[in-house]
Amino acid sequence: MNGVFNSSVDGAFIFVISISIAILIGVTVAMIYFVIRYHHTRHTDAKDIHGNVALEVTWTVIPTLLVLGMFWFGFKGYEKMRAIPDDAMQVETVGRMWSWQFTYENGIMTDTLYVPVGRPVALNLTSQDVIHSFYIPGMRVKKDVVPGVGNRMWFQAESSKEFDVFCAEYCGDQHAYMYTKVVALQPADFDAWYAEEGKNWEPAAKDEGKGERKPGSRGPMLARIKGCVACHSSDGSRLIGPSFKGVFGHEVTVIRDGEEMTITADEEYIRRSILQPDYEKVKGYENLVMTQIELTDEELDELVAYIKGLQ
Ligand code: CUA
Repeated sequence: MNGVFNSSVDGAFIFVISISIAILIGVTVAMIYFVIRYHHTRHTDAKDIHGNVALEVTWTVIPTLLVLGMFWFGFKGYEKMRAIPDDAMQVETVGRMWSWQFTYENGIMTDTLYVPVGRPVALNLTSQDVIHSFYIPGMRVKKDVVPGVGNRMWFQAESSKEFDVFCAEYCGDQHAYMYTKVVALQPADFDAWYAEEGKNWEPAAKDEGKGERKPGSRGPMLARIKGCVACHSSDGSRLIGPSFKGVFGHEVTVIRDGEEMTITADEEYIRRSILQPDYEKVKGYENLVMTQIELTDEELDELVAYIKGLQ
């Protein structure tokens, strides 16, 4: 089984669909039987029937029981989904147009959700803009992500594999691309990943070489989370926007207020390009619009340090 809810959700679904199929077959067979049995050539005299208590009770009680059964199965499963275990691993989940961002208990941020197999994971869902919906079909869970409303959901992976995550609420023209994955790892593998990735999210060393972490080591993940990588490569290849590689310290020709000029890309220039994307544009890219992204000071420092390091 892929997740803790699979058997109950599938069970309820199979229960409902089996009853529906049985009723469909029953009604169809009865109809065909009546059409043949009571065809006017065999049954020339029409006869009215007025009331049959036993029949009426039967066709009231049986469907009521069936519907109550469906409700019971559905409600039981829903109850289990609502009861978030106290020991669940907490992940702050932010939806925005059009990406997901996950923040773990030790401060790690990712664009893909990593979870340990066999341990409950609780997602605290918030949206920065419009209504999204966090949907993991392989684990049979889905919850709306509504701005200003702290919805929560939980699941537990039962096998180490990858699961698709879709946004299930239409949220604009890139809605279909608001896709990520849940990567379920064996507990030991998860702990190793968590510790290793966690190093990148410790406070940066003030003096390089003194501390544990080089400034900018969060850059690659931040560039993915914040959506930079959709337009900017880190290897010099040309995407929609200019590559991050080899910018720092080099001369760059920009268009500012309709005027062409050549400047040296210093740290100031990189910061400005991120914070005020419309102030100047690299020549050749002047007609493109860069989305203003929300960044904390720390995130900005990390991205700038990362881009500086891409020589
Ligand atoms: Cu987010 Cu659709």
